[in-house]
Amino acid sequence: MQKYLATTNPDISEREKRHLEAVRGMAAECMVILKNDGVLPLRRTEKIALYGNGARHTVKGGTGSGDVNVRTTVTVEEGLEREGFQVTTKDWLDRFDKAAEAHLTAHLTALQKQAEETGTAFRMLRILTPYNPLPMIPVTQEDLEKSGTETAVYVIARNSGEGGDRRDVKGDYRLSDDEEEAVRFLAKNYRKLVVLLNVGGPIDVTLLEKTPGVHAVVLLGQLGSVTGLAAADLLKGKAVPGGRLPDTWAGEYKNYPASDVFGANDGDTNDEYYEEDIYTGYRYFDTFNKPLVYEFGYGLSYTDFEIKTLKVQREGAEIVLTVRVVNTGDTYSGREVVQVYVSSPYGRLPKPYQELRAFAKTGVLAPGEEEVLHIRLKVSSFASYDPENGCRVLETGEYLIRVGSSSRKTKVVCKALLKQDVVTEGLKNHFFPDKLEPYSTEFEKPYSYKDEEEETDTAPVIVLDPADFSARTAVYEDAPAELPDLHKDHRITMDEVVSGAYTVDELTAQLTDEELTYLTVGEAARRGAAAVVDQRGCDLPGAAGETTGLLQDSRNILKMQLPDGPAGLRLVKEYVVKPDGRYVSAVDALGSETGDSPVEGVHHYQYATAIPIASSLAASWDLDLIERCGDIVGAEMEEFGASLWLAPGMNHHRNPLCGRNFEYYSEDPLLTGKCAAADTKGVQKHPGVGTTIKHFCANNQEDNRMFVNERISERAMREIYLRGFEIAVREAQPMAVMSSYNLVNGVHTANAREILTEVLRDEWGFGGLVMTDWCTTLDISFRQTNGKDLKYDKASARACIEAGNDLIMPGGMSDVEEILASVKDGTLSRGALQKCASRVLLQVSRSHLYEGAKPYGENVPGEIVTFTVE
Ligand code: BGC
Repeated sequence: MQKYLATTNPDISEREKRHLEAVRGMAAECMVILKNDGVLPLRRTEKIALYGNGARHTVKGGTGSGDVNVRTTVTVEEGLEREGFQVTTKDWLDRFDKAAEAHLTAHLTALQKQAEETGTAFRMLRILTPYNPLPMIPVTQEDLEKSGTETAVYVIARNSGEGGDRRDVKGDYRLSDDEEEAVRFLAKNYRKLVVLLNVGGPIDVTLLEKTPGVHAVVLLGQLGSVTGLAAADLLKGKAVPGGRLPDTWAGEYKNYPASDVFGANDGDTNDEYYEEDIYTGYRYFDTFNKPLVYEFGYGLSYTDFEIKTLKVQREGAEIVLTVRVVNTGDTYSGREVVQVYVSSPYGRLPKPYQELRAFAKTGVLAPGEEEVLHIRLKVSSFASYDPENGCRVLETGEYLIRVGSSSRKTKVVCKALLKQDVVTEGLKNHFFPDKLEPYSTEFEKPYSYKDEEEETDTAPVIVLDPADFSARTAVYEDAPAELPDLHKDHRITMDEVVSGAYTVDELTAQLTDEELTYLTVGEAARRGAAAVVDQRGCDLPGAAGETTGLLQDSRNILKMQLPDGPAGLRLVKEYVVKPDGRYVSAVDALGSETGDSPVEGVHHYQYATAIPIASSLAASWDLDLIERCGDIVGAEMEEFGASLWLAPGMNHHRNPLCGRNFEYYSEDPLLTGKCAAADTKGVQKHPGVGTTIKHFCANNQEDNRMFVNERISERAMREIYLRGFEIAVREAQPMAVMSSYNLVNGVHTANAREILTEVLRDEWGFGGLVMTDWCTTLDISFRQTNGKDLKYDKASARACIEAGNDLIMPGGMSDVEEILASVKDGTLSRGALQKCASRVLLQVSRSHLYEGAKPYGENVPGEIVTFTVE
């Protein structure tokens, strides 16, 4: 009979309290002060006129699989009241509620109609159609008078999620008319106005920045269940926001690169040409000196800091910076983020103006206090990809090392001189986009600042010695050969593999084609895919999938449970176990009552902690904090019996409209990779549980996400779209990787051996398991509901196995049939099938399902690819 680990006690547990308190303690580090004329912190718990769609309908995180089903979310209104503020605009908030309800009803009615017309399940549509909340209703003179205070807090919220991109329209990327009106009205009529942005990514903040009377603007972000309490802590001055922007906030959407062609903007969601090439985010804004409102890495504190580079030293192929940070203020404590950017010489390969190469956050510095940081840079990490020669190369010339507090507030502290080209890695080209011209950087003038020239001229020179660098060369494995069965007279079980008596390969060699096939296809193939979507398909209620149970009785090969993330564990929060041992959910995937709970049965509760969304975590620039969040998730995985967490998400923020950017970290691959590595290290401290970094790769838009063909140059792939994944793999060895839905240059990533085997395994040394994203290979109904003729077909199950995509999720009978037929007709080798199955078995054998499991990191040591901070 199935074993349920959830508690039968509905009361809040000590673990829940502890984890919520821990997240609350971290939350302020994830918030970014964008503007503050001294109004913050308010210090006194005064009367607050509270407005905005995020006041009572605070967004804790986005929608879809990235949502977490929590016990409760503290709204900003509740948070303020719990912390002793008096909210004086109850009438306005009640009025907003009514309007918001009507807005939601209209949304649901439209979905219902769509469900009827297309035959798609309503629940499915609800999960996959992001709901954009009502932006605002007018604030009247009467509201103002009734509020009886001079202090207003205006919370602007946005929501998004998988299945659809955001839009450059009023009420989404832009402020709605009512919002604009409210900003002007509140700014004019209140003595103090604080605007909190309860958003997962940039919106157009031009009006907020330029309107006098908007005294403070803070990126509150979406911080999980404690969002409202965190807001109260911020206003009260109990917690000091310490975040810095992980993305450029450019004001008008058209200021972003590729804004006219991104996603549905040019009317074509079949082919996406990455014309901006390597110039995404600040690489674009700086190289071409484009207008923006808040630069990458920007964020204020309540105090001021002085950053001084005391020493720059060469140690072989590394540069060590000694940087002193002093809190020069006299009232507030705070933390500073030291950011190191490098401008590489513009040689045969064009280069961006600068690239982030290291960062470090100080501890809390009291007024007058200082901290000295030692930041160690690996010069090889500055290398560019040279598509002409299929290698990574450090081109000859001067490398300017810039140290500062944001991408636009740095000083040149040294010039590292390399007198010849140095190849750091021998690779080969894998990506050949059609119709993509190299991006022209001719006649463009980069960003500069007053003292730049003088600083550069007078900066000390360090001469690098080419002999200090050693090049590594990737070795590409041949297609796997068939494993022979060496123990024909003995039936090997998983326990014998776990005990070390036999190897995974020896067990794999004994399995029939059919058994191997089931191992490479998720359990939904046997249970029915609808069950998974309906949240009733897995032994861990709410998990998005599980591995096969086919060989449970015969060889004790147990099933791994795979719940979603990344903002915590996505589980069903309450379910009922019937007398026959089976369960039904008491609440559905969206948290509503299913209405079909059995009369008889034992209620079980799974209250996971919602941690801040990924873009808020990245805003902390605090890897230790992110590791602690991973630790929280890892502990809950142990508690509930989850093996692989379908997180962190780590796609590149190519464009602010991507509907899932909130699930991803940043527009910079180094920050992204470091965050994902920290998250993974936190999770994988726990025995036998691991992360699944996703969506590998270039899953940068949600419109037509399953069939969009991303056309990207080799260099942009290497330096931008793969780079974050590479750092996470090399540094933290996640237990698993999830391929994406999209195609890259004409091939589904799920079917691309170049990406999943040659890049991931042969070049980076990934030792874990690769799985598909959900239903990548299936002909599911929402494919047909897209409304247009799709240019590209779905991925194939056979090609997944050939590519080294070990596990097809959640699994369908058509996958099983296709693989078996291919082995039979010789279009798929038994060796390739064995290889995938053995990689699934390897992770099963290392999982917590068996006694004596170790933290995964102890099995597979990582390798640091870039900087370290002492
Ligand atoms: C999402 C994945 C998720 C999976 C399982 C897919 O729709 O793209 O991120 O892990 O569903 O829920």
